[in-house]
Amino acid sequence: MENHVELARQKYRLHAPWYDSVAAPLLGVSYQREAVSLLHLNAGEVVVDVACGTGINFPLIEQEIAHTGRIIGVDVSPEMLQKACSRIVSQGWKNVTLVNASAEEAQIHQTVDAFLFSFAHDVLQSPRALRNLFRHAKPGARVAACGIKWAPLWSFPLNFFVSQIAGQYHVVHEGLLKPWENLTAFVSNLEIKLEAFETIYVAWGTVSEGGRAAETEEGAGAKCFCI
Ligand SMILES: C[S@@+](CC[C@H](N)C(=O)[O-])C[C@H]1O[C@@H](n2cnc3c(N)ncnc32)[C@H](O)[C@@H]1O
Repeated sequence: MENHVELARQKYRLHAPWYDSVAAPLLGVSYQREAVSLLHLNAGEVVVDVACGTGINFPLIEQEIAHTGRIIGVDVSPEMLQKACSRIVSQGWKNVTLVNASAEEAQIHQTVDAFLFSFAHDVLQSPRALRNLFRHAKPGARVAACGIKWAPLWSFPLNFFVSQIAGQYHVVHEGLLKPWENLTAFVSNLEIKLEAFETIYVAWGTVSEGGRAAETEEGAGAKCFCI
């Protein structure tokens, strides 16, 4: 796992300067919008944007939670978070906390109403990260995730594109058949919608009692900065 985290840090050091102009349009902001809307956010709520990257989803979340809510953006890449920080400053948001740590080790000091996993494949493949995050969930906390997946047999040529994107943006290459699978241990009534010839999924549900109570190791070495 440590290796995956370090590889992600290295990969996104290179992606950070171009992410918003290249990857974000490629990965599809409309799916991110759909995932955020499935969180059914209310003013004043606390949302963890897991693997938030450059904060591309922050405007969508801000619209719903208003200035009384809070976004906690967790990401392992300082370069991606530096971009997020610039976005926060330019928008004048005072309610965003950035945590520069792996999702496996991040320390979150609030209870959480909702978790967003937007194109966060590497984190979704880590049960340790999910345990660490969901122990901060309020009862009934909502979860939404979106990302790429392998196309089914009837549209298998599309897997050329899926493999190109996964190669560029994922460190963990397993789990692309059902990227949401690990969530089922933590989330009750997980619903899945497939789009774009089944190469994109959107998943949503509610953190279960068992998911909140899962045991975890306390994070170490996490660093919090900005705002
Ligand atoms: C494809 S980007 C997604 C960014 C953003 N969520 C979006 O919707 O565009 C994946 C992000 O996951 C982060 N990441 C990868 N592994 C991670 C881990 N174990 N813990 C926290 N962040 C991680 C990377 O640094 C990168 O910013």
